[in-house]
Amino acid sequence: MLSAKITVDPTLVIGPVRPRTFGSFVEHLGRCVYTGIYEPGHATADKDGFRQDVAALVRELGVTTVRYPGGNFVSGYRWEDGIGPQGERPARLDLAWHTTETNQVGIDEFMAWVRSVQVEPMLAVNLGTRGIHEALDLLEYCNIAGGTHLSQLRRTNASADAPYGVSMWCLGNEMDGPWQVGHKTPQEYGRLAAETARAMRMMDPTLELVACGSSGTKMPTFGAWEHGVLMECYDEVDLISAHAYYQENDGDLASFLASAVDMDHFIDAVTATADAVRAAKKADKRIGVAFDEWNVWYQDAESSRPPEGDDWPVAPALLEDQYSVADAVVVGGLLISLLRHTDRVHEASLAQLVNVIAPIRTEPGGPAWRQTIFHPFALTARRAAGEVVTISIDAPTYETNEYGDVPLVDAVVTHDRATGRASVFVVNRSVNQELRLELALPGATVDTSVDALTYCNRDVYWKATKDDADAVKPLVNASAHAVNGGAEIVLPPVSWSVLTLG
Ligand code: AHR
Repeated sequence: MLSAKITVDPTLVIGPVRPRTFGSFVEHLGRCVYTGIYEPGHATADKDGFRQDVAALVRELGVTTVRYPGGNFVSGYRWEDGIGPQGERPARLDLAWHTTETNQVGIDEFMAWVRSVQVEPMLAVNLGTRGIHEALDLLEYCNIAGGTHLSQLRRTNASADAPYGVSMWCLGNEMDGPWQVGHKTPQEYGRLAAETARAMRMMDPTLELVACGSSGTKMPTFGAWEHGVLMECYDEVDLISAHAYYQENDGDLASFLASAVDMDHFIDAVTATADAVRAAKKADKRIGVAFDEWNVWYQDAESSRPPEGDDWPVAPALLEDQYSVADAVVVGGLLISLLRHTDRVHEASLAQLVNVIAPIRTEPGGPAWRQTIFHPFALTARRAAGEVVTISIDAPTYETNEYGDVPLVDAVVTHDRATGRASVFVVNRSVNQELRLELALPGATVDTSVDALTYCNRDVYWKATKDDADAVKPLVNASAHAVNGGAEIVLPPVSWSVLTLG
């Protein structure tokens, strides 16, 4: 059997486990909002029209922040369309996804929903077709207590006397992408981001502002975009965004399982670029990364093709990827990469939350269920605690077409000083071999409690449907045991596991 060893040093801390690493994303796209989180006629809907079966799954998933309202959608969005009496709101064409937006859900409904599911909102302003003025208007509507036109309007519309107090704001979305309505050069965007940020801070100096980074490492402008944007707006922003989607190409499972190699490279390259700008500007401040869109997404699938021509449907089924066990192992691996970079990744959003490339699926008028990718996310959000600590991994490597030689094992470890517990999140990327993993903790002793769960399946392409969603679940891995002050476990091929060590 293959074997590998992980040595943990709990005294070498990379950084805190940040709750915001477990964020997600709700865009006005397909059925994420309509018949996703919101369906007034549904049997479980509350008085505001929000599905409580979905809300329960959102809480179980452990999501901490939710980004809204886009995405590509935001670049054509007029936020004022979504306030006031629902019957008087205008329907508009959404150019990003070639659909009709009814505006039945807007900022007030979204804020009511985030309160009810107890997550922190992260709002995006439209810097594609709009600018500083509209961003300031939305900020006034959300964050000013009262006494001004727009704050009074909020108090009237939503009976919300207290301001929403939104802290995290994205300055536009994917402005590097030629597909974006209002796409810009890095200099054009960087200037607009800087001036928008400066004006927003004049109204509310406490904001945390995110500039748009690259839409992926394969963008021809990757690196140069971050450099150009940050040269314009470094002093005004706190974070730069990163977006990455992965898929299995042409049956190349081996490369797909190593997707976290690309995410590692992405984060390292962006932080190096940001630090180079910091040096050039002789700035004290160091900025972080908001990985505010990441997931597996089969972008060439039929359901990712927007409608065309005269067809502008309302909330059609779009980007409704059905995820396999292998996809879930990759998602677990991407979370390992995000946690490993907790010193620089200050926020992350699994894109998206419901129906649209999502861990939660719904049927209109019917049930809501968990997709495979739900499991590694929920378990990581629940068990990562305390601090991320340094480890060294000694593992055999395997050859991949996309990334060359890659270790078969990838892992991250968190250590909670308060409880003394450590959690180990680990993937076995081998497509066909199990692997014995030894965990060594010099200077610490594992008592007899080793609690291990593994997510895997003989058929790695198994996908959950509404009828059998829970047929494949994370199961207790009985091979895990304490030994020689450390622990051992056998990891099946194409698997994701979490071990909590007492
Ligand atoms: O999440 C789906 C889309 O992916 C978002 O609208 C966009 O920002 C990205 O390209």
